[in-house]
Amino acid sequence: MTVHTLIRALPKAELHVHIEGTFEPELMFAIAGRNGVSIPYADVDAVRRAYDFHNLQSFLDIYYAAAAVLLHEQDFYDLTTAYFVRCREDNVVHTEIFFDPQTHTARGVPFETVINGITRARLEAQEKWGISSRLIMCFLRHLSEESAFETLAQAQPFRRHIDGIGLDSGELGNPPSKFERVFAQARAQGFPAVAHAGEEGPPEYVWEALDLLKVVRIDHGVRSEEDETLMQRLIAEQMPLTVCPLSNLKLKVVSDLSRHNLRRMLECGVLVTVNSDDPAYFGGYLNQNFIELADALDLNEADIRTLCKNSFKASFLNEEEKAKRYAEIDGIHV
Ligand code: ADE
Ligand code: ZN
Repeated sequence: MTVHTLIRALPKAELHVHIEGTFEPELMFAIAGRNGVSIPYADVDAVRRAYDFHNLQSFLDIYYAAAAVLLHEQDFYDLTTAYFVRCREDNVVHTEIFFDPQTHTARGVPFETVINGITRARLEAQEKWGISSRLIMCFLRHLSEESAFETLAQAQPFRRHIDGIGLDSGELGNPPSKFERVFAQARAQGFPAVAHAGEEGPPEYVWEALDLLKVVRIDHGVRSEEDETLMQRLIAEQMPLTVCPLSNLKLKVVSDLSRHNLRRMLECGVLVTVNSDDPAYFGGYLNQNFIELADALDLNEADIRTLCKNSFKASFLNEEEKAKRYAEIDGIHV
């Protein structure tokens, strides 16, 4: 099918992927074994069977438990390198990766262990495979403002390796307003901000992310459609939404991919992008998200080209790098 071939052939950027969410069960067992940590499942199939989520929190409980296996710099390097291998297979030429330092520092793993492992893998991927990347530090919104401030302080010696800040974890009951002051401080230090909003949370959280956190992208944002005034603003400002179709399906944000609103949003001029979120948990990396979405929504070749261009347009790349990618996309025919 031409659309599938085109999806595989086009260069893409990924703007919404949690490095902890790329932790495949095979690697989990390998790292647990060498670290002498036990996993409460018999084998990888048993782990995968446990990935039957009914909402965001039911996923987060397993996701945080699995991350507890990661202890050493080499573990974070191996995790990140395994993700870059998948990028290469999917023709993802640029990726902007989230990491959750608090998930690790709360267990006594030093901040520098996490960031050094991830950074080494990023440099190598750029050198060996020409895959460019950025790193976005997320604050866990179920934790306190104080803990977020502490994390921002811990990040200071590593500022050259961090390209932005984000906000993730359980959305309901943890509005963006809780982190207004931390985001103000981080922005004053020069970090651009993004935030998860409007995944399970209401459109009001998207307004708060825009007005209080002053984000340059909204992660997910699919519930924005419930508020027509918000939609008009997103379109007018060309505010990117980093949408994650298989995540939305697995976490029951949508009941069926054919009911996903990405196509409607694309058609009314919202700058939407396609992303994998936590591919090891949700059944597929970037191309799989594109393919299943294209099949469910009957996306055509022009839609796929627009989505791939949007991925670069919404990225932290400079205008020259973006223009090069648009031209490349226009020049590929299958
Ligand atoms: N952390 C990892 N994946 C997430 C998601 N989809 N929403 C909120 N926090 C997350
Ligand atoms: Zn996410």
